[in-house]
Amino acid sequence: MTETDFILKDFSIENINNGSFTWKTPSNIALVKYWGKQEPQIPENASISFTLDACFTLTTLEYSLKQTRHAELVSASHENNLNFEIYFEGEKKEDFKPKIATFFKRIEQYVPFLKEFEFVIKSQNSFPHSSGIASSASGMGALALCVMSLEKAINPVMTNEYFNKKASFLARLGSGSACRSIEGPLIVWGNHPEIEGSSDLFGVKFPHKIHDNFKNYQDTILLVDEGEKQVSSTVGHQLMYDHPFAKQRFQQANENILNISKVLQTGDLSAFIAIVESEALSLHAMMMTSNPYFILMKPNTLKIINEIWEFRAQTNANICFTLDAGANVHVLFPENEKETVNNFIKSNLIQFCQENHYICDIIGEGTTSIVNL
Ligand code: DP6
Repeated sequence: MTETDFILKDFSIENINNGSFTWKTPSNIALVKYWGKQEPQIPENASISFTLDACFTLTTLEYSLKQTRHAELVSASHENNLNFEIYFEGEKKEDFKPKIATFFKRIEQYVPFLKEFEFVIKSQNSFPHSSGIASSASGMGALALCVMSLEKAINPVMTNEYFNKKASFLARLGSGSACRSIEGPLIVWGNHPEIEGSSDLFGVKFPHKIHDNFKNYQDTILLVDEGEKQVSSTVGHQLMYDHPFAKQRFQQANENILNISKVLQTGDLSAFIAIVESEALSLHAMMMTSNPYFILMKPNTLKIINEIWEFRAQTNANICFTLDAGANVHVLFPENEKETVNNFIKSNLIQFCQENHYICDIIGEGTTSIVNL
């Protein structure tokens, strides 16, 4: 599929006035990381992620058809003809508006009905906003799905497959990793020869049978630093443009997709651990070797990593860590080792979390539509 397949043409909004849609969309954690992109939100390498379950965003999009006279006023006073308000956890958020405005501007050519409506967006997260957990994946995913529900109301002849693909396509234009939050449990984004149907434009479900070892895989997120990040992902991606190791990094990630694809089918947990931890450290190595360089890990991030390595050496537990663009640590392990690993987390790792905060998550199936809230 190409971009033009996602442009809605010849539509009529005659029977649509006002209403609302609500979607609950989870976050995701990448096993092979996306770090580096081209315009418009095209990844430099393929990435793969576990869709999460407990960490999600719940978003309601209220829409009402613009009155003609009102529409003229709106178009005179609003950039891009798009008129919306945003509330986050009950509070009006003017500072969230530019990111949403950019998103609407990017997607408008694919959903041209947007400018016919006024919107109120109401959003909340299941995790604390200041937790350092990236909410852009779940937030942009949920908003893209709400927009797709409106498209479906306008144009009901649409398969579920197209609905999900276009939701992922739109979400990508809000935040790259958001395109991996629409479905689950394992999503690949980025064109890769090993992954049939894979695309730079949207996420696809991992196409092979996943070994039972990965069923209900656990992800305990240790909140090491709940503060604002010093360097945003947007800036981090930009620093990959003339990064001295960029080419090798993109090649390494694509090789890791090939390797992890085999591992996910054979259930080889040692190989899984080696790929996932190497990916996390390679991501942070890119940050440490960019110009300007930066470090997002904190002393407690390293303490946790060392504890995990020690515990693994002593017990042979299949525990490993991964990191996103921050100091928090995602601790991954199989469901059948839950008891021993959770005991270890409680006794040895929680002390390194800010105010002992952590979140027990598990891999999930993706998004859900909520009706009649
Ligand atoms: C380190 O998706 O947040 O989490 O496309 O600029 O919104 P934008 O970036 P974003 O980058 C995520 C980077 C990562 C790795 C990953 O999720 O693959």
